[in-house]
Amino acid sequence: MGRIFSGLQPTGNFHLGNYLGALRNWVAMQKEHESFFCLVDLHALTTLPEPSKLRSNVREIVAVYLAAGIDPERSYIFPQSAVSAHCELGWILSCLTPLGWLNRMTQFKEKAGKQREQANLGLYAYPVLQAADILAYRATHVPVGEDQKQHLELVRDIAGAFNRQYQVDYFPLPEPVILKTAARVMSLRDGSVKMSKSDPSEYSRIQFSDDPDAIALKIRKAKTDPDPIAGDPKAMENRLEALNLLGIYGALSDQSLDAVCREFEGQNFSHFKQKLTELLINTLEPIRQKMTVFLKNPERLDAILEKGSQKARDLACTHMNEIKDIVGLLKA
Ligand code: AMP
Ligand code: TRP
Repeated sequence: MGRIFSGLQPTGNFHLGNYLGALRNWVAMQKEHESFFCLVDLHALTTLPEPSKLRSNVREIVAVYLAAGIDPERSYIFPQSAVSAHCELGWILSCLTPLGWLNRMTQFKEKAGKQREQANLGLYAYPVLQAADILAYRATHVPVGEDQKQHLELVRDIAGAFNRQYQVDYFPLPEPVILKTAARVMSLRDGSVKMSKSDPSEYSRIQFSDDPDAIALKIRKAKTDPDPIAGDPKAMENRLEALNLLGIYGALSDQSLDAVCREFEGQNFSHFKQKLTELLINTLEPIRQKMTVFLKNPERLDAILEKGSQKARDLACTHMNEIKDIVGLLKA
């Protein structure tokens, strides 16, 4: 049995991509692994969110985790900032990370854009803190969406650099766990960009706060094309928006893209969209209802975070003492 670590930024607008790419997988994996699910509030600071918003988003995301099926009796849920080991280890690892490795990170390039000189150091060092998140627990498996693949390769490189530098076999090289279906859910408005929390258009994403009417409206407005659905996804290679909706349907109904295309072959999108809307509402509405119930009991949410933080602190602190020993820092 391995140990899972994964995290999500408490930045609001939790969406279908987060669920299908990450959270749904966590729910399944927690049954077989000791699991740490973190709200990476320090990572969220890289975009300087409004303090009161950041605070309320943390509780909201805990409610999403619980409503989607994370079991707080089995798994540990906690805010990153509650465990100081993440920052301490982040520094140690940053001393082992060549700038050349960070310069390759496409997420930094995308987020910094043309204003690279103005981008903050936190945004640049973001993947090193991510490495510390995972390695502080000596986690073996990291379930994430496809956009995190490059960061996880870097985490493995950094873990390897540490083991080599100090001639130890201390950090396991963590395995990314990326599902095949819906590892990358795309925007409903543009099939060439991923569904994201920060897209200015709400019509680009299905959010967990959306009620059935909002879901129906967003799917009705979702971009498609006038051609009928082909029986073979290869024949639809250039129809990105169409493929995205079919992929979402497949992920929600646990079917391959091939099977979905065969089921709807020859039909137009108006019929398919009705079916997709039903499936989305059947999946998301019970989660939304449960979220509302959890959010009415903030004391319970805080108690869950407290328990998770305690466990996370204990484990990370044990590891930090060993790490300090390895690198030659005194344990005061
Ligand atoms: P973030 O929204 O950046 O905090 O991402 C949290 C988790 O959701 C990570 O594991 C991401 O890889 C995953 N994720 C984010 N956007 C998508 C998407 N459009 N499709 C699939 N997975 C996603
Ligand atoms: N960078 C991840 C994202 O944007 C969030 C994250 C931070 C994370 N630390 C992590 C994911 C550790 C997995 C493991 O989605």
